[in-house]
Amino acid sequence: ENISPFVNEPFVNFSLEENKQAMEKAISIVKSELGQNIPLHIGEKKVFTEDVITSINPGNLDEVIGYVSKANQALAEEAMQMAVSTFETWKRVPARDRAEYLFKAAALMRERKHEFSALMILESGKNYAEADADTAEAIDFIEFYAREILRLDQINETQPLTKVQGEDNRLTYIPIGVGVIIPPWNFPLAICVGMTTAAVVSGNTVLLKPASTTPAIAHKFVALMEEVGLPAGVINFIPGSGAEVGDYLTSHPKTRFISFTGSKEVGLHISKLAANTSEGQIWIKRLIAEMGGKDGIVVDETANLDAAAQSIVASAFGFQGQKCSAGSRAIIVEAVYDEVVEKVKALTEKLVVGLPELNYPAGPVIDKGSYDKILNYIEIGKGEGTLLTGGSPAEGNGYYIQPTVFADVKPGARIMKEEIFGPVLAICKASDYKEAIEIYNDTEFGLTGSYFSSDQNRIEEALETMHCGNLYINRKCTGALVGAHPFGGFNMSGTDSKAGGYDYLLLFTQAKLTSRKL
Ligand code: SER
Repeated sequence: ENISPFVNEPFVNFSLEENKQAMEKAISIVKSELGQNIPLHIGEKKVFTEDVITSINPGNLDEVIGYVSKANQALAEEAMQMAVSTFETWKRVPARDRAEYLFKAAALMRERKHEFSALMILESGKNYAEADADTAEAIDFIEFYAREILRLDQINETQPLTKVQGEDNRLTYIPIGVGVIIPPWNFPLAICVGMTTAAVVSGNTVLLKPASTTPAIAHKFVALMEEVGLPAGVINFIPGSGAEVGDYLTSHPKTRFISFTGSKEVGLHISKLAANTSEGQIWIKRLIAEMGGKDGIVVDETANLDAAAQSIVASAFGFQGQKCSAGSRAIIVEAVYDEVVEKVKALTEKLVVGLPELNYPAGPVIDKGSYDKILNYIEIGKGEGTLLTGGSPAEGNGYYIQPTVFADVKPGARIMKEEIFGPVLAICKASDYKEAIEIYNDTEFGLTGSYFSSDQNRIEEALETMHCGNLYINRKCTGALVGAHPFGGFNMSGTDSKAGGYDYLLLFTQAKLTSRKL
């Protein structure tokens, strides 16, 4: 078999009229199909429930995306039994065959990429470029993990062990069992697809509980996997409430691992539940958690200030700041502080807020809970810094908030410490680059960071001392690419799982040593 080396899916350039029109067309097709009932998938069975999650467009609250069936504990239990029994057959399917399902899925998703992006534009409030990047990343994860399981399969044959005369020794990575996959809504396709396909291609079966604000796009992926012939029962789709279904499955004795991406609070809650052993449980559950960030960009006086300001604004306000990688802090040295602040303000004021389907640069936040929380942080910010721009809700029939910048925020301020997950940037002044790095590191999180400088010695120092999982020099702190920038952070940002990296599949396997006397 000839499998080409992995390359990243290119992004679509929407300044070209034909590309823009292609997306508009996809949006109108997807719109004509909205409002359907979406079932649970338990093995081959499709279950429609009376109790549903109504998924709506956060940018147009009158538009229903779909009515998504909702699991209760009985249905979750049924799905668990299905995953447990399917594991017995799926774990025996050769890695090559498991990878083949993924290659087919990636090809189909690529063919239909605007359709996937269009649904995300409507369901999550992404603009064209953000949605397209999400779909591209989803394709990347599928292509990457398919190649990774083939590489691991090869390693299983060739793992170098110390030679012992008269013995044939081998170390192989084998599947672990049933996983509960709890993805976030902010990369409602990419992260959902990455977490799910990594687990499944490694030979495990899963219960996928999508985020309650973006279940329709998750279902579109599940339907795609069914279409490419993935055996029923490998991916079971069970939307439901975290408190009812999430906790039940996290505590379930048959759950072997939990793969979670979301907030610190929920991650710590899951960690606690997963640490208990239930009656009949014969393992310690494995938890793979990717949690929040309070990511920041440090700028010194030798930096290209235009590039720095552009990256600060892109990192802070891309998808309304709703990324765990979002650069919600900027720490700027005194000598260039006023100049950078002025540039950031001007660039932020260019971000017009409006409907995602019309491709406004700034759109809505995901739901009422986020909207209220962010506005509350904006009020807190008014007491902690100088409001430069924004500071209020924005017009529209959705959860719109003006891109908001606070300057002169002190290092200990709440808006410098707490993850807001919205379009709010805090800017802080430092006397020099050393102090700026200290302020950057003064956080419980450690996900992404950037350092802007042209001084090679300082860059070396920043590379060593800025403590985060993804550290960038002279570029924005969002937009990690699969394969190139394995993604995941330190401390309260999670378990340092590196999605899109060469260690990732090991998290879904266990190593078995066999020693045969010759
Ligand atoms: N991987 C995304 C980024 O780098 C965040 O989840 O922006």
